[in-house]
Amino acid sequence: MAPRKIIIDTDPGQDDAVAILLALASPDEVDVLGITAVAGNVPLDLTSKNAFIICELAGKVDVPVYAGCDRPLGRPLVTAEHVHGKTGLDGPSLPDPTKQLTPGHGVDFIIDTLRSEAPGTVTLCPLGPLTNIATAFQKAPDIVDKVQQVVLMGGAYFEVGNITPTAEFNIYVDPQAADIVFKSGIDIVVMPLDVTHKALVTQSRNDAFRALGTPTGIAVAQMTDFFERFDKEKYGSAGAPLHDPCVTAYLIKPDLFTGRRVNVEIETQSELTLGMTVADWWGVTDRPKNALFIGDLDDDGFFALLTERLARL
Ligand code: BDR
Ligand code: CA
Repeated sequence: MAPRKIIIDTDPGQDDAVAILLALASPDEVDVLGITAVAGNVPLDLTSKNAFIICELAGKVDVPVYAGCDRPLGRPLVTAEHVHGKTGLDGPSLPDPTKQLTPGHGVDFIIDTLRSEAPGTVTLCPLGPLTNIATAFQKAPDIVDKVQQVVLMGGAYFEVGNITPTAEFNIYVDPQAADIVFKSGIDIVVMPLDVTHKALVTQSRNDAFRALGTPTGIAVAQMTDFFERFDKEKYGSAGAPLHDPCVTAYLIKPDLFTGRRVNVEIETQSELTLGMTVADWWGVTDRPKNALFIGDLDDDGFFALLTERLARL
């Protein structure tokens, strides 16, 4: 089967970085048409730069990287340096990128790509706030029907929230954008905290990355070492959750994941619960099922895949 064409929309972020590396290491399954950066974990200038750094680490300098939106649709940007560090990629010391950003806006790249590729052949993979994707849909409504699928990291049901008591970071940063995407009618696969909190980098899993002995393996181990401190302290968990790589792992090996088709709506009004993903997990309403909400994964299989693929870079 031909590899699936994808656009990665991202705010790197150590876990975004690992998600990108996994995709770039898997050309038989996914063809990364381009990467669009968005403001999220850190401001846009840093997320764009970090996306480049990761492509260069992977030795994939030809993948176009575009800067997208620098702030959410209707509210000020909230960032997460407390989790990811000042640069967004704290942990390893990686060289500055040698290449320049690809000219053009990330949103226009998304629009042009969906218009030029055959309808139903491009999957969008958002790993950060949904600002770029929603802006593209607003600017060019004709592309909505052309999207094959959206596979995104965001939201939570049983795990509720990580940035507020009721909201997950990516959705909270731009709830208005999330609302547009969830109402688009596109086939959506959601990797919420419910599953990503089960993708934990334990010590032995991180040792396996480091033992690859390659610049990529060592950098990933250093990134997760950094990222881990925060979650260990907060949740008392055995390690850091690798949120965003769940998206790219799903594209490569969907059988690792299980979930339920449910209705998901976004809270955009309430100050108390802003950005909450109201998922009808128990089917108590007649609202249309608009998303496959993932709840579980084969974590050993996930880390085996990740380690095996990172070894290829
Ligand atoms: C999400 O927020 C970011 O901090 C991570 O990169 C991930 O995309 C988890 O809530
Ligand atoms: Ca992210």
